[in-house]
Amino acid sequence: MRMRKAVFPVAGLGTRFLPATKASAKEMLPVVDKPLIQYAVQEAISAGAEELIFVTGRSKNSIMDHFDKAYELEAELAARNKTKLLETVQEILPPGITCIFIRQAEALGLGHAVLCAWPAVGDEDFSVILADDLIDGKLRPCLAQMQRVYQEYGTSVIACERVAMDDISSYGVVETQPVAPGLGEIRRIVEKPKKEDAPSNLAVVGRYILTPRIFKLLERTPRGANGEIQLTDAISAMIQEQTVLAYEFEGTRYDCGSKLGYLKANVEYGLKHPELATEFREYIAGMSQHLNAAGPGGKK
Ligand code: UTP
Repeated sequence: MRMRKAVFPVAGLGTRFLPATKASAKEMLPVVDKPLIQYAVQEAISAGAEELIFVTGRSKNSIMDHFDKAYELEAELAARNKTKLLETVQEILPPGITCIFIRQAEALGLGHAVLCAWPAVGDEDFSVILADDLIDGKLRPCLAQMQRVYQEYGTSVIACERVAMDDISSYGVVETQPVAPGLGEIRRIVEKPKKEDAPSNLAVVGRYILTPRIFKLLERTPRGANGEIQLTDAISAMIQEQTVLAYEFEGTRYDCGSKLGYLKANVEYGLKHPELATEFREYIAGMSQHLNAAGPGGKK
């Protein structure tokens, strides 16, 4: 079983990052030196995706340009003998990978964005990656971990993570029946529940492997939480008909849709970056000493 198609919903308004996202896409924000969407694309390709389907909105042309060939830039880099940089630019999209761009005219929600991808996905199982959830997989990328589960069970798989109950109302939350360690069949799924109504602390994060049945269900999903067509609501209908697994991935997720999560990602990826690691580590160590000396609240 192969999953050839990956969908990237990138049509959200990114209001939490205004004004940075006023005229450009949240998914183009860089973590150190690569935009979030490039990490997401690399993860999809590592899990076997060959066709990348971007659901875009206004001000998202930069995403299209990023994955397009940049003839002038490449010629300029070649003329200046900047071979390493030329390779970096050429490696953005490996050979044999195709991109499709679909416009979501109105930001009616994640569910609606996924529905917009239907003509390009057709009748195949596919994956969905939300680029603002940057996941550093422990041994292998998160989607590749999920791909293994999908190979074994042949059903939809959704990435999940235990979160603090104080944060639970920002997530889709699942109640599961255990299947194996870190794997459960979803019995109930609710979008953004109040803390007291949450069925567990197991939250859905931005990676999904779905069967095409989801499209028919999305078509008849009314607006839900925040007045948006929620993917969670269609998944709730799907669990009545098909097995949907919740998989607790191994690795660390950075919520790059929030400013704090984005800053944390930049620090962690900076500390691992081959060109920056040593100097940046020294800088952070010096800064920690300074902060410790200053004591709580920054006062001496
Ligand atoms: P978010 O819930 O993070 O919304 O969307 P957002 O608009 O991007 O950001 P904020 O909350 O206003 O700051 C989760 C994912 O779903 C996509 C987003 O691009 C993001 O990848 N999305 C959301 C769409 O593609 N279309 C939509 O209508 C809504």
